[in-house]
Amino acid sequence: MILYKSEEEVACMRQSALLVSQTLTEVAKILQPGKTTLEIDELIGTYIKDHKAIPSFLNYNGYPFNACISVNDVVVHGFPGKTPLREGDIISVDVGVILNGWHGDHAYTFAIGNPGEDVMQLIRVTKESLYLGIEKAIAGNRIGDIAYAIQEHTEKKYGYGVVRELVGHGLGKDLHEDPQVPNYGKRGTGTKLKKGLVLAIEPMINLGKRDIYTEEDGWTVRTKDGKPSAHFEHDVCVGKGKATILSDYSIIEEAEAANPYLFTQEKIPVKN
Ligand code: MF3
Ligand code: CO
Repeated sequence: MILYKSEEEVACMRQSALLVSQTLTEVAKILQPGKTTLEIDELIGTYIKDHKAIPSFLNYNGYPFNACISVNDVVVHGFPGKTPLREGDIISVDVGVILNGWHGDHAYTFAIGNPGEDVMQLIRVTKESLYLGIEKAIAGNRIGDIAYAIQEHTEKKYGYGVVRELVGHGLGKDLHEDPQVPNYGKRGTGTKLKKGLVLAIEPMINLGKRDIYTEEDGWTVRTKDGKPSAHFEHDVCVGKGKATILSDYSIIEEAEAANPYLFTQEKIPVKN
């Protein structure tokens, strides 16, 4: 069943999404080699609770941490742990909150130092594909239009692996609502989009092949070929003629640019 949100409800969901953006901004400020992902998880839990919200991933289907922190070949649902981050790691931080009964759920991939040009390109293209998908999140289009836009940019244009088993989703009073939002598909197919549909769009894109497996812990999803994977997620509301992005990367990107340990496209050293 698809639930459409009123303007008041969308305003509430924007607050939830923004709290996630603010949490990810705090993470962007403190990321550096030597930090453990468990420390980051604790910061995330504290920040969310300090802002009168609940970390929604904790205990969701038994998930045992505040956030999903996925390093290098971990695609998504990585467990925070005690291994220190190293220069050249990439790290997807996926955060969920419930604020006033409404879910926010979004994610960002950071590079700690220089992971190499090929991996920086993967990060850039995955983020670009998210925005290309969002452009299609307008009333009258279909889920397949979003999916196709993401797949075209990542798989067709760059030859990356698009994960099939995991998808984006509707978002609201529940973390996972209908419809599913795959990152691959055919234009003009799937559920028709209507104003007030809030979606979490989240391309999970592998540098190598698309194949993945889940570890013994029942959660950690890794690429089969061991190559890195990037993940970006925004919370988006379908509108007439335009999509509204409820989450906000600008504050995260500002913190990322100001953190000397975090690589961005602009900070890649120019080769002579
Ligand atoms: N953002 C992810 C998703 O949309 C993470 C949720 S899994 C959880 O599915 F168990 F950690 F909550
Ligand atoms: Co999600």
